[in-house]
Amino acid sequence: MTATILPTPGDLSITPRDRRFGRETAAPRLWHGGRVEATAIYNALSTTFPAGEAFFVESVRAFRDGAPPRLAEEIKGFTTQEAIHSREHDAFNKRATKSGYDLSRLEAQVEKRLATTRGKNPIVSLAATMALEHFTAILAHQLLAEPRHLEGAEKETADLWRWHAVEEIEHKGVAYDTWLHATRDWPRRKRWKLKAKVMMYVTRNFVVDRTAGALELMRQDGVKGLKAWWLLLTYLWVRPGMFRKIAGAWLKFFLPRFHPWNEDDRELLRRCDASVGHVPEPAKKVRRAV
Ligand SMILES: [Fe+2]
Ligand SMILES: [Fe+2]
Repeated sequence: MTATILPTPGDLSITPRDRRFGRETAAPRLWHGGRVEATAIYNALSTTFPAGEAFFVESVRAFRDGAPPRLAEEIKGFTTQEAIHSREHDAFNKRATKSGYDLSRLEAQVEKRLATTRGKNPIVSLAATMALEHFTAILAHQLLAEPRHLEGAEKETADLWRWHAVEEIEHKGVAYDTWLHATRDWPRRKRWKLKAKVMMYVTRNFVVDRTAGALELMRQDGVKGLKAWWLLLTYLWVRPGMFRKIAGAWLKFFLPRFHPWNEDDRELLRRCDASVGHVPEPAKKVRRAV
C-alpha cells in the first residue's frame, strides 16, 4: 500500500465564521461599482454556489468512512463552512432576483452539469470537487491578494465575497486530502491521469458556462453583442484580469508533487480576518446553527 501524504499544515484549524450578509441593507442592482460586466460575472459565479457546494459536500462525504481522525475533523469543518456558504449565496441570489435578474437559465445549466457528473462513478465526483476546490481557492487567493478586484463594490457585498474567499482558502486542502485517502492504493500514474483529465473537463465547463452566464445577465441589463464580449473579456483577462492572473496557479495542479498547501497563504486570511473583524467560532456551535 502506498503511504498517504497529508501536507496540510498541522496547526491548521478550519473554523466556520457564521456570518449573515445583506439582510438589512439593500445593495443596488449593479452592486459592483455600477459596472455591468463586473456585477454580471460575480452574479454568475454566485448562481453556482448553492447547488455546487452541496454537491462538493456530498462528494467528499461519500469517502469519509475510514478516514484518519484528522481528515475526518477537516471534513466536518469543510462541510459546515460550505453549508453556510450555500445559505449566504442563496440569499445573495434571491436579492439579485429581487432586483430584476432572471437567474433560471444559469441555475438550470449548473444543475445539468451536476447531473452529468453525478451519473458517473463517485470517484469522478470527488475528482471534480477537488479540481473545482483548487479553482475556488486560487480565485479566492487572487481576490484577497489584489483589492482592485472588489474596488468600487458595495461594502456589505464585497465583505460577503471576502468572507467566502477566506474560508475557501482555509479548507482548500480538504477535498484534495480526501482524494489522496480515497485513491491511496492507486498507482501514481492512474491517479494523475484521472485528476488531469477531470481538471481539463471542469475548466472548460467553468470558463464556458461562467462566460455564457455573465453574457446572459449583461443582456438583461441591455448590453449585448460585441460590446458585451469586449467588456467581459477585458474585465476577465486584461484588467483586473482575474482569469489571466490565476493561470499560473492553475497550471501547478498538474505538477507531480502538487498539493494545495504547497502555497501557505494563511497570512492573507489573518489580514482579512483582522480587517473585517471576523471571529471564527467553535465548529460545534456553528454546526448546530446550520
Ligand atoms: Fe464555499
Ligand atoms: Fe470550498
